[in-house]
This record gives sequence, structure tokens and C-alpha cells, in this order.
Amino acid sequence: MTAAGKLEGRTILLGVTGSIAAYKAPLLVRLLVHNGATVQVLTTPAAAHFVTLETLATVSGRPVLSDMFAGGNTWTQHVELGLKADLLLIAPLSAHTLAKVAHGFADNTVAATALTARCPVLLCPAMDHYMYLNAAVRANLDLVQARGIHVMAPEWGALASGLTGTGRLPEPADIFQEVVRTVRLGHSLRGKRALVTAGPTREPLDAVRVLTNRSTGTMGYCLAEALAVRGADVTLVSGPTQLSTPPGVQRINVETAAEMHAAVLDAADRDLVFMAAAVADFAPLVRADNKISKQEAPADVPLRPTTDILKDLGQHKRSGQLLVGFAMETGNGHANALRKLKQKNLDFIVLNYVNQAGAGFGTGTNQVTLFGRDGAHKALPVMPKRAVAEELLKLILRHS
Ligand code: CTP
Repeated sequence: MTAAGKLEGRTILLGVTGSIAAYKAPLLVRLLVHNGATVQVLTTPAAAHFVTLETLATVSGRPVLSDMFAGGNTWTQHVELGLKADLLLIAPLSAHTLAKVAHGFADNTVAATALTARCPVLLCPAMDHYMYLNAAVRANLDLVQARGIHVMAPEWGALASGLTGTGRLPEPADIFQEVVRTVRLGHSLRGKRALVTAGPTREPLDAVRVLTNRSTGTMGYCLAEALAVRGADVTLVSGPTQLSTPPGVQRINVETAAEMHAAVLDAADRDLVFMAAAVADFAPLVRADNKISKQEAPADVPLRPTTDILKDLGQHKRSGQLLVGFAMETGNGHANALRKLKQKNLDFIVLNYVNQAGAGFGTGTNQVTLFGRDGAHKALPVMPKRAVAEELLKLILRHS
């Protein structure tokens, strides 16, 4: 065993597909096995054109699963496999299997397992240069990454077609390092329970009209995804958004601040709490059951304050719990953020400005400053919200 068995006790599912780079798969299997991993190889029918199943079975020490309908295989094995594994690695990944993974096809063992996997998934595409640059392949890669699947980019170099370009499968040693990193990441919050709130709330005025704000929920959803990727058990309490639920996240839909409060209280014992929702601070005092007609238009709309959910959580914070709030400001941000951090008994607060270019509501990017209890702060550059979520988690977990 080498490198002190970096994958000791881990189970890796290795999907091998019909790409010429499949000839590197046995070397990759050896490396994983020598580092303590149990490796179960799965192949698509086309893979057998490039590497023999006998070779893969010999180096992995177990039969290759190549045919979903082969005698002796139970029909639900693609479900069981993805439940108990630590990682599904598909290397090499052909453009064809990528398309299946991206669009939910399940007509072979590799594609079906990718669809049912509850573990992290790491894809290593390998194909010809122009295939890799094709718009359909780029769109499929974007699609899978948007769903939290990890992709290791292919390398530039001489390709089997005789062309030189991007598309080479990285060397087994480099894939191995990425596997170790992804497996570690997938375990870093295992056993932890997280609560994230996201999106706006809607406070009804009558049967059709609401008081709301411009939050899209993106920042909270990115945080929920980043927590789930690390293995946390994540509950996402979401106001109305257009976003799809990140993989592995349990989502509870709410509409008003009062509904959000109730849903949050049900999950208030979580280890990690991220209150990213833009909760309405006030709501119409009365809600008309019918639609208010033009003729009855009120000259003014009396408002009542809503409960400050985060303050409530801060007052009842249990020991060891990590409470993170957000401050959306238009000015005097540092002072306001620090005041909210103290008043609400938070461990961290994330400040962003609603009126700054590239930050706030409705943009794909954000620019935030993270403040800790001790007043220490770190400003991050403008980044896509998914990268902001990753950076925030890294900083918060390192300093908590
Ligand atoms: N928050 C909450 N419940 C509310 C209002 C806000 O839990 N009724 C949370 C938000 O989710 C956020 C934090 O409190 O994590 C700060 O929200 P923000 O709107 O910036 O500040 P407020 O406390 O509402 O103060 P102000 O309106 O004075 O800016």
C-alpha cells in the first residue's frame, strides 16, 4: 500500500466509457486499490472496445458490472451502488455518456448509477478537441456542474485523432489526487445538520397583491448546495423562487415571514444555520380576503412589523451551534453589520450592498465582506455566487 492508504475504507465506483483513453483505466484502478479503496468498476457497452473487462476485473479484484440485465445482477443494484459508495468517478467520460448524465438517460449501468447516486460524482471528460469544444458538449458540462457534479477538465496535448488540442484524459496520478480531494470534501461535514433560508417572503395585502422584495434566492441555494456537497444533511427553507432544489437538499417552501419563522423553528436545533433569506421586515396590518377594487383603493396601507427570525434564533442559540446572518445594506454597511451581529447574537455576518454593481439581488455575482464575532473581517472580490458560497464556507468552517 502506498501514500499511507489515502482512501482506506472508501468505496469508489469507477464508470469507464467508450473513449480511447479507457486504456488508462486499469492504471487508475491500481492506484485507487493500492491506496486502500474498494473499487467497483462499471462499464458502458462501448468501453469494451477500448479495454478488456478481464483486465479491469483482475486489477480491481471484483467482477465488472457491464450489463444491467446480466444473470445474477439484482435489478436495483444501480440504486444500491450509489447509496453506499463514497464517490462515483466516471473516467474517461465520453461525450455520449456526458449527454446521458446531463439529460437523465439511464439505459446502461454507468448512466443509471449516475442518476441514482447519492454520493459525490466526479467526471473526467476525454474526447477529441473539436468534440470537447462543441456547443452541445459545453452546454452539457455547464448543466451537470450547475447541479453540483464535479468536473475535472481534460488536458491539452496530442490526441488519438492526430490533432493536438484539449481533450486528453489527465494522467491517473492526477485523477487520483482529485479523487482524494473530492472524497475528503464529501466527508468534511458528514453527520452535521444544516439549515439554510433563502429567497424573499411575500406578505399579502389582499387576495392577489403582495408586499415582497427582489431577492432571487441564489445566494442561499448556492450555500445549501455547497453544504450538501460536503456531506451535510441540509434543510432549505425557501421563499418563492424560480430555482431548482440542489441535489440531496430537503426543501421546505414557505411564502410569508410568519411561515418562514414556523419552518425555521422546526429546524432550529441544526448545527449550522445560514439565514440568507430576505425576510420582509413589515407586512400589511390587514389582509383583505377579496381583491381590493380600484374604487376601494386605500390612501395608505398600514403595516405591522414581522418577527425577526434570526434574532429569535440568536436568543435561543444552543451551545456549539453556528449562526450566520446576512446584512443587505445601502450605506454605513460595516457599522450596521457589526450592530446586527451583536444584537442577534451571531457568530458571523455576511455584508453585501444592494446598490453596488455585481452584488445584491438578481445578479449572478456577489461581493461580500464576512465579519466574525471578534470584529475581524475579510472582503471577498466580486465572484459568481457559487464561488462566494464556497469561499464563505471555507472561511467560516476554518474559523469556527
Ligand atoms: N432577518 C430575519 N427576520 C426578519 C428580518 C431579517 O431573520 N424579520 C434576518 C435576515 O435573514 C438576515 C438578517 O436578519 O440574515 C439581517 O437582515 P437585514 O434585513 O439586513 O436587517 P434587519 O435586521 O432587518 O435590520 P434593518 O431593516 O434595520 O436593516
